[in-house]
Amino acid sequence: MSFDHVGQAGEPILAVSGLEKSYGDKIALNGIDVEARPGQVVALLGPNGAGKTTFASIVAGLVKPDAGTVLVGGVDALRHPHSVRPLIGLAPQTTGVYEVLTVRENLTFFGELAGIRGATLRQRIDDVSASLLLEDLSSRPCQQLSGGEKRRVHMAVALMGRPRLLLLDEPTVGADILTRTALLEVVTQLAGEGTAVVYSTHYLPEIESLNAFVVLLDHGNVIAQGPVQELVARHGLAALELRFDGPVPDLSLEGLSITRQGELIRIVTPDLALAAARVFEVLGGDAQRLRSLDVIHPSLESVFLALTGRRYDPDEEDQRVGPS
Ligand SMILES: Nc1ncnc2c1ncn2[C@@H]1O[C@H](COP(=O)(O)OP(=O)(O)OP(=O)(O)O)[C@@H](O)[C@H]1O
Ligand SMILES: [Mg+2]
Repeated sequence: MSFDHVGQAGEPILAVSGLEKSYGDKIALNGIDVEARPGQVVALLGPNGAGKTTFASIVAGLVKPDAGTVLVGGVDALRHPHSVRPLIGLAPQTTGVYEVLTVRENLTFFGELAGIRGATLRQRIDDVSASLLLEDLSSRPCQQLSGGEKRRVHMAVALMGRPRLLLLDEPTVGADILTRTALLEVVTQLAGEGTAVVYSTHYLPEIESLNAFVVLLDHGNVIAQGPVQELVARHGLAALELRFDGPVPDLSLEGLSITRQGELIRIVTPDLALAAARVFEVLGGDAQRLRSLDVIHPSLESVFLALTGRRYDPDEEDQRVGPS
């Protein structure tokens, strides 16, 4: 099968539609549509259990979906997984390198698996080692590396085959600032060269810095998608959150949208300063029971809040189950 047509301007490298997957009565993906075009960074964003890893695993051919289609380079990836495999690079959520092999031996091994040999292989190893700051570590066995160093090797492995579609599942978990910066720079550079990158994470600021096309996942559903700035402009209202010791006071502030949850009052407002001034005006003696005041600026976090009514909590566990 020929892939000469792959990556022509505007054609998606990845086109997923109606993707469904359940594990028993747990719905992991509830019929989602996602596309990634050459040069695009698509950020799959969502809290624990949202379905990010399930999505990457299905696209990479490791897990079978219950329904839906997955086209990679225009080819049906569910029916022809071997044909599309050379186009895909996957760095799974759990790091997987050969611990007893050195960094260079790992890169050589995975490069050979991707069908690269000789001078091309050596050049590729040098290139990915340089971009992921691995040059000084090349002769170290992986078992002697720190978590962040291992993350970089793990991502380097996924890059060895020069994939047209790169799937990175939480690539910066456990990474220090140096590793995180290097990883983000590599992602930006690869996208600049035309790679389509699907980048799953639950760190909102990271996505804001990547200026990605965001697919916001919650409980296996896409609740919003679009460029970061567009989503923030459309849904990202600012909010004030006040927590009290004891029952929340009965504030009535005309024109402001107020919700109460337990010991918490949330005020969604386009003008934080004015809302704060008005709140303190009417709080009176209750101000003494005020335990904390949080300001939520327009950002992906407030987009999530606006669309779900919940604060974004990357560690929340999905307790919901589907129909039995
Ligand atoms: N092999 C499995 N067996 C049973 N349930 C599973 C399996 N894999 C995933 N799930 C469930 O499917 C849902 C989606 O899981 P998934 O791993 O895709 O989420 P995620 O967005 O990657 O989360 P995290 O941020 O924690 O990595 C979760 O509720 C999870 O418990
Ligand atoms: Mg995951």
